[in-house]
Amino acid sequence: MTTYAKTFAGWQNNPEAFWAEAATAIDWVKKPSVVMDNSNAPMTTWFPDGVCNTCYNAVDRHVEAGRGDQVAIIHDSPVTDSVTKITFADLQDRVSRLAGVLTSRGVVKGDRVVIYMPMAPEALVAMLACARIGAIHSVVFGGFAAHELAVRIDDATPKAILAASCGIEGQKIIAYKPLLDDAIARATHKPDFTVVLQRPQTQADMVSGYDLDWADEVASATPVGCTPVGGADPLYILYTSGTTGQPKGVVRHNGGHMVALNWTMKNIYNVSQGDVFWAASDVGWVVGHSYICYGPLLAGCTTVVFEGKPIGTPDAGTYWRVIQDHNVKSLFTAPTALRAIKREDPKAEYVKKYDLSGFNALFLAGERADPDTIKWAQQHLQKPVIDHWWQTETGWAIAANPLGIEQLPVKLGSPAVPMPGYDIEILDEGGHPVPAGELGAIAIKLPLPPGALPTLWNAEERFKSAYLNAFPGYYETGDAGIKDADGYLYIMARTDDVINVAGHRLSTGAMEEVLSNHPDVAECAVIGIGDALKGQAPLGLVCLNNGTDRSEEEIAKECVALVRKEIGPVAAFKRCIVIDALPKTRSGKVLRATMASIADSKPWKLPATIDDPATLDAIAARIAGIGETLS
Ligand code: COA
Ligand code: AMP
Repeated sequence: MTTYAKTFAGWQNNPEAFWAEAATAIDWVKKPSVVMDNSNAPMTTWFPDGVCNTCYNAVDRHVEAGRGDQVAIIHDSPVTDSVTKITFADLQDRVSRLAGVLTSRGVVKGDRVVIYMPMAPEALVAMLACARIGAIHSVVFGGFAAHELAVRIDDATPKAILAASCGIEGQKIIAYKPLLDDAIARATHKPDFTVVLQRPQTQADMVSGYDLDWADEVASATPVGCTPVGGADPLYILYTSGTTGQPKGVVRHNGGHMVALNWTMKNIYNVSQGDVFWAASDVGWVVGHSYICYGPLLAGCTTVVFEGKPIGTPDAGTYWRVIQDHNVKSLFTAPTALRAIKREDPKAEYVKKYDLSGFNALFLAGERADPDTIKWAQQHLQKPVIDHWWQTETGWAIAANPLGIEQLPVKLGSPAVPMPGYDIEILDEGGHPVPAGELGAIAIKLPLPPGALPTLWNAEERFKSAYLNAFPGYYETGDAGIKDADGYLYIMARTDDVINVAGHRLSTGAMEEVLSNHPDVAECAVIGIGDALKGQAPLGLVCLNNGTDRSEEEIAKECVALVRKEIGPVAAFKRCIVIDALPKTRSGKVLRATMASIADSKPWKLPATIDDPATLDAIAARIAGIGETLS
């Protein structure tokens, strides 16, 4: 039996003992006597009667153990030409002061705080300050526009918002404060105050008494200690895209999250205290939460906060430069970033310029890793390239090649095998397991492990209907795939209308809601088509109201601008085509998947239930083969 198989079997034989053992690596104010509480099945909570504090475990305990001088955060920012190092002791000071600012203004345990910040170290300080006082943070990705921010403000009803004056995107400076002001104006809920980090590149206009200056407030703040919270008290809410325009508020509890993330650092990523870990993502995504902020800090690693792009800041060698300069042991990024580098530097000339001797492994997730990209990285880096699969909902890898336990053979196109905690079945439409090698819906047998979402914020019924009702006894991942005879998984496609653009999860439903607000649009559909760089890209198809006599080109341009304005540039909605009619089934369902297959030159069948085949023929003539499908 392999070491991985033994570990997995150990978990399967006694999941509670497995996680109770993992929980001993966390410092508890009061140790949990209950590991798993299933009394409210199908909902599960972990370590509910434990008392703890996530910030204490991520920061203070390292200082108390004498590691205050170790670097906790390296902010490497080619866009501002600066590198800043923050020790654990310094981090403790910054976090406890910002926490003091929040408490002095009335923020208490259980209150929500929205964070709208770029990749500055203060974004982590903000998250940790909330965790310190038991406030529930909700970070909103900076690439989302005012409308998306407003939707999240209304759902989370925050007492305060922590923001920065701007983000820097390659050569562009994006002013955040006007977006924040617009979002607060649009939202029904009004936060009590904001705290704004004025960055030198843009000074935000401040409303006296409402918008507080971060630096001034922190300078005069009284540091506060860690508030004890329950193991099943929420640490954060992170909104993610679902089928509709209303994002889902994934809830993360303090106890299980700490236990699970801490376990993954050694067992999956093979890093330990003092090692440098770099997740090249953004704090607005789950990867940023788990592996820029909490995971590495809980494990006492140094985390890299990188404010730049894989290319253009200044070149395709930036990643390798950061690895060399900071002695990064493990890098976690999205395949799209590697594709961007590979496109600019196909022969990997930049790789040769840097000393990567301290670098151990490259981890990829966020979207399907195409075999060509993996092979390119394997060939040029000469290090393990590990694809692993997970989602905002789970917060950590469902399937991976657990380097810290054992490096299993890599199979191209597969994120390898299930991690302890995840009992995975491939199910047919009736919910029956399919034989090895057959495609089906990927489902996880309940209960979900520690760290995975216990529910959706203020939406328990939606949690059940979105994830638990389709296959009773299982969590439905929303991904379709295959398990082979060796137990390796292959993730093939989403089963819903979520698309993945440059590793960013987006809802085509949300884009359709925006398009249907255009005064000339009668009906629309947004589909994800193949994109050689970003994996997928959205394509809008709109039908105009009868009698519209404006230029189609003009209207398509307005549609593109509208999605950018309402959802944000991150949607990368750049193509919109005006058509006469949408192809539908007789019951009115738009044939999105069929159109996407046509665009990507994939095999497709004329659905027997199609209402008017001529509509599909007309669209096929316009979009056939326009997608650029990856290997
Ligand atoms: N704040 C404001 N705007 C943002 C933003 C942010 N935090 N992040 C992205 N944007 C904007 C970009 O400036 C761009 O705007 P544009 O249309 O004016 O050019 C748009 O959103 C799309 O951004 P992006 O998807 O990053 O595309 P790009 O063409 O600028 O860069 C890549 C392409 C491949 C280099 C880039 O997508 C990348 O680095 N991807 C890695 C993805 C990743 O880390 N995902 C995290 C999940 S693990
Ligand atoms: P997010 O919630 O943004 O992390 O997106 C999660 C979704 O991204 C998953 O449900 C998959 O559809 C996709 N995804 C993430 N990692 C992988 C991977 N390694 N291989 C294939 N798809 C992935």
